[in-house]
Amino acid sequence: MNSEFSFRLLATDGKARRGEISMPRGTIRTPAFMPVGTAGTVKAMYLDQVRDLGADIILGNTYHLMLRPGAERVAKLGGLHEFARWPYPILTDSGGFQVMSLSQLRKISEKGVVFNSHIDGSKHEMSPERSIEIQGLLDSDIQMQLDECIALPAPVSEMERAMEMSLRWAERCKTAFGDQPGKAMFGIVQGGDNETLRMRSADALAAMNLKGYAVGGLAVGEPQDVMLAMLDVTCERLPHEKPRYLMGVGTPDDILKSVARGIDMFDCVMPTRAGRHGLAFTRHGKINLRNARHAEDHRPLDEESACPATRDYSRAYLHHLVRSNEALGGMLLTWNNLAYYQHLMAEIREAIAQGRFEQRATEITEGWQRGDI
Ligand code: GUN
Repeated sequence: MNSEFSFRLLATDGKARRGEISMPRGTIRTPAFMPVGTAGTVKAMYLDQVRDLGADIILGNTYHLMLRPGAERVAKLGGLHEFARWPYPILTDSGGFQVMSLSQLRKISEKGVVFNSHIDGSKHEMSPERSIEIQGLLDSDIQMQLDECIALPAPVSEMERAMEMSLRWAERCKTAFGDQPGKAMFGIVQGGDNETLRMRSADALAAMNLKGYAVGGLAVGEPQDVMLAMLDVTCERLPHEKPRYLMGVGTPDDILKSVARGIDMFDCVMPTRAGRHGLAFTRHGKINLRNARHAEDHRPLDEESACPATRDYSRAYLHHLVRSNEALGGMLLTWNNLAYYQHLMAEIREAIAQGRFEQRATEITEGWQRGDI
């Protein structure tokens, strides 16, 4: 296993990239989807199952873990990998985004963010340096800079202010992170829906020579074509030889279109959250198991799948579980959805390696639209 963090491009097909990130805790095949394990658990899943589905890395959240059970406590218990029993790579988000979306009371300034916990109202402070310190206590393999992500639409002046401050925070996080050969700290491109700001952010981060780059501040209320336009201008300016991570995205369609523009990594609550709400992703599109039309349907979600949740349980049974609010309903649908997402990524990787990504993406998209479900 590699003692240093490294990224290798294995194949390209148009702008789509097939690659591999190597680091001491494992290898991440890209394009990769990272299941969201906010509080040290991928909700409703055993991590052994998550691994068996083909996940090389999961995501954890600084914000949640610092509040409960506390970063120092996780460190005392041997770090997040040991605590959660996931010995493979973990990426942690830095906390800024979650503070903005979850905490009612927060104040952001050059120093950092001051906020009240959404759990018990207690007051906390997080600077760029403290975010990196916490991510270190968690023993995270890929750490994210603290940034400010604003909701769209927003005035250009506001997007510019947040983007420029995020650049200064990237410098501070880089210094705080220092030299850790087996780990990485990624910068985050901001700039809202403004192409000029996005370009300036990408150029400035590229000049910092970080080990990887994320694109943040997208899928926050803008139409998909705006997000894709931002990716077009951003990916072009990020270094070819470093991994690119699109944060918080997305639907299978968003993923296909973003891979086509040169994105290597994704995370999203969609498969896990939708599963707990009765929604199944399949080759043939989305199925809402709450719907009464499934009440007597003997068919599984997809008889050709290798995932037991997808192949072995009738839609009628899943409908019953969802309608009865049984925990097993959320568990089976989360399992199905993560299996679908990981299978999608495997197909994407294979298609890029074979030089037929665009064709495969079209076939996958047509599969959703056939509507034979
Ligand atoms: N998750 C989704 N979007 C973002 C973002 O812009 N910044 C951070 N830190 N996390 C995110």
